[in-house]
Amino acid sequence: MKRILTGIKPTGYAHIGNYFGAIRPAIELSKNPDFDCYYFIADYHALTTLKTKEEFEVYSKNIACAWLACGLDPNKVVFYRQSDIKEDFELNWILCNVTPKGLMNRAHAYKACVEKNQEAGFDVDNNVNMGLYNYPILMAADILLFETNLVPVGLDQKQHIEIARDIANYFNNKYKKVFVLPEEYIQKEVQTLVGLDGRKMSKSYGNTIKLFGTEKELQKSINRIVTDSKLPGEPKDLDCTLNKIYKLFATESQQAEFDKKLAGGLGWGDAKKELFEIANNYIKPMREKYDYYMSHFEEVEKILHDGAEKARVVARKVLSDVRKAIGVEK
Ligand code: TRP
Repeated sequence: MKRILTGIKPTGYAHIGNYFGAIRPAIELSKNPDFDCYYFIADYHALTTLKTKEEFEVYSKNIACAWLACGLDPNKVVFYRQSDIKEDFELNWILCNVTPKGLMNRAHAYKACVEKNQEAGFDVDNNVNMGLYNYPILMAADILLFETNLVPVGLDQKQHIEIARDIANYFNNKYKKVFVLPEEYIQKEVQTLVGLDGRKMSKSYGNTIKLFGTEKELQKSINRIVTDSKLPGEPKDLDCTLNKIYKLFATESQQAEFDKKLAGGLGWGDAKKELFEIANNYIKPMREKYDYYMSHFEEVEKILHDGAEKARVVARKVLSDVRKAIGVEK
């Protein structure tokens, strides 16, 4: 049995890129009986970028309800909130003391901020808080605390898993072999999702389609998809952004039919209507569940609370081994 663990950072409303790129594949993995899955809301990681209390509350709630609405089964997955696991933050501090500062200087997210500042002629650490700087250490704690074997993540997170492994090795070599060495699990079939403008779908580009917006919001997003200026009657490029998004929702036969229409000159306006239909039909049953959880949030709280209780059984054991290894506990 392999332990699979991943964290979801609540820094915005869940969008369809999150759904097809992370939520759906993670839920699929949880159906494999060889995997013991721990999925959590990395709310304390989101703290490094969120600006207000309201954002923190709204996005955490959205993400929790979204995962349940998309089919996460709390009987199959230990589903919890990072901030409920006090052991994580104690481990974080201990790990700080085996982590070379240079390792953090090389972390991509921090380096990107430094480079941006340099280009703009600002101080290198302008706008960098210690949460961002130490981010990879807390992430290592998230992972190592649960004897994780595999971490399903996107390519952008690969370095963080390597760092977690490095930190585990530093600790294991300095004290004793307490930590399991985690590996990244990058699912090949999960493609990069394109956004409304054809670039990668990402909150930072403002080109996302909200997963659980209203029908009207969905329609509005679809209307914003960038197309070329071909007129109705002219054959359309099947490799266009609109068709790439259509493909996410379509069965093979639906896709074949739509390809034919596009090649046959379907106008962009009609194509957008068809995309709305198929996307809305796909999302609708999940949206109903989402609305249910949003208005019965006490049920979600209970699920997260029970998840944290289960998770802390493992966390307490590992943290106790760590505390013994460093000499703080007999
Ligand atoms: N850094 C991850 C992201 O931005 C979120 C995360 C936090 C995470 N802790 C984790 C992912 C532990 C996997 C394992 O997507």
